[in-house]
Amino acid sequence: MPRGRIGVLRAYSSSAWASHPAALATAKMASPAPGIMPDTLTITDNRTGLVYEVPIEDGAIRANALRQIKLDEDDFGLMSYDPAFMNTASCRSAITFIDGEKGILRYRGYPIEPVAERASFLETAWLLLEGELPTQDELSAWEDEVRTHTYVHTNVTQFLDGFRHDAHPMGMLLGAVGALSTFYPDAKNSADQESRSLQRGRLIAKFPTLADWSFRHTHGLPYVFPRNDLDYIGNFVNMTFEIGGSHEPNPVLQHALEILLILHADHEQNCSTNAVRGVGSSQVDPFSAVSAGIAALYGPLHGGANEAVLRMLDEIDHVENIPGFIESVKAGKGRLMGFGHRVYKSYDPRAKLIKQVADDVFEQTGLNPKLQIALELERIALEDEYFVSRKLYPNVDFYSGIIYQAMGYPTDYFTVLFALGRLPGWIAQWDEMLGDSEQKIARPRQIYTGPGEREFVPIHAR
Ligand code: CMC
Repeated sequence: MPRGRIGVLRAYSSSAWASHPAALATAKMASPAPGIMPDTLTITDNRTGLVYEVPIEDGAIRANALRQIKLDEDDFGLMSYDPAFMNTASCRSAITFIDGEKGILRYRGYPIEPVAERASFLETAWLLLEGELPTQDELSAWEDEVRTHTYVHTNVTQFLDGFRHDAHPMGMLLGAVGALSTFYPDAKNSADQESRSLQRGRLIAKFPTLADWSFRHTHGLPYVFPRNDLDYIGNFVNMTFEIGGSHEPNPVLQHALEILLILHADHEQNCSTNAVRGVGSSQVDPFSAVSAGIAALYGPLHGGANEAVLRMLDEIDHVENIPGFIESVKAGKGRLMGFGHRVYKSYDPRAKLIKQVADDVFEQTGLNPKLQIALELERIALEDEYFVSRKLYPNVDFYSGIIYQAMGYPTDYFTVLFALGRLPGWIAQWDEMLGDSEQKIARPRQIYTGPGEREFVPIHAR
């Protein structure tokens, strides 16, 4: 007998199931009439003999639907187990589309290629944040808004001074961005759309200042204050490299940097974005949520990979050492950094564009010997069965580090540049999450594997 409708899921006993319309439709699968196939999944619980029908929406079932599958009324219900979210959608998002098999990346529907080639970074940020490309008036107003927020409280310089001379700039950045929440206590009103808009402007505007100051600190250089007569990228580069009040900008390198930042601007539910969403779901202020994203990005399997690529190229040192290095990777002694991706199982479209940027940059700066090693490494890896069979291709980080180095950035600063690029995506995803009525505080379940209840043993008896 049918147990009736339970939430989004219906349960039937096996015998009753035979007469259910969905089962009949399945039986007629050989020649289904158009439109009658139900968008449902039929699950038989072999422990109980009950059959369930779970709706399929947008190619997914709701994990919560499984909770109704129980052994008895006291049972908690079935969960899905998905360590590292290998096959779990945690949200609906209208920001970035990726087809990892085909190597497609789109921001708000626009393919990454024309966006990177024709839009500015702030234009791209607007697209991610607002969902549409800005008109000229909107872009000018947005640029003005960002320009008015570039300064940070000068007390920030005092706590940056407290870091050791060799502090990693990512560690400084994550501390400094998180600390901004103490300067803007109004940012905790994350339910208020007007406040959210103000904070996103502050974040986009102040982030380059903090990033540059972490650079200056590690170089023992005095902090350079923002110049609001320059554009976003021009001001950022000036704060980094100005010495004695002057810096000669190189428009080709600045344009290349802008493209690199755009290529990093969003990448749907990656590790750091998931951290921003997860932490932001507690309704903490966006400075704290973004600093969680910076922490996630710091790791060598995520944003830290471009730094790791350079260290790897240093270690390889010469083209003739490549075959030996590849063999050591295949033997499980480390990874080929800058290769492989959770989502892309073909060439990362960003890596393709970055290779083009490399040509422009190296024309200006002269060839970097590491480029030769990287090109040869890529050539050999792409012909090697180990990498081919695992669909391991160069990712965004494989060439970006070499370019950054040619531009004059030290290795430990590469991830800061990644963070600057990713910032609009983090904010857009945070804002989308807060506006999504289906979202709640992020709180996964677990499968407990520890001991059962035990009697406490006093310390003298252990
Ligand atoms: N070098 C050698 N083997 C690799 C590599 C690599 N770079 N990446 C994956 N594999 C192998 C891995 O050993 C495994 O082999 P097997 O099936 O024999 O055990 C198989 O490929 C699948 O690997 P996985 O670890 O299950 O794949 P994943 O989706 O969990 O990992 C990844 C994705 C990016 C963490 C991984 O490819 C990796 O560690 N790459 C190097 C680090 C890197 O370049 N990270 C930057 C990612 S792009 C920028 C970003 O989004 O942050």
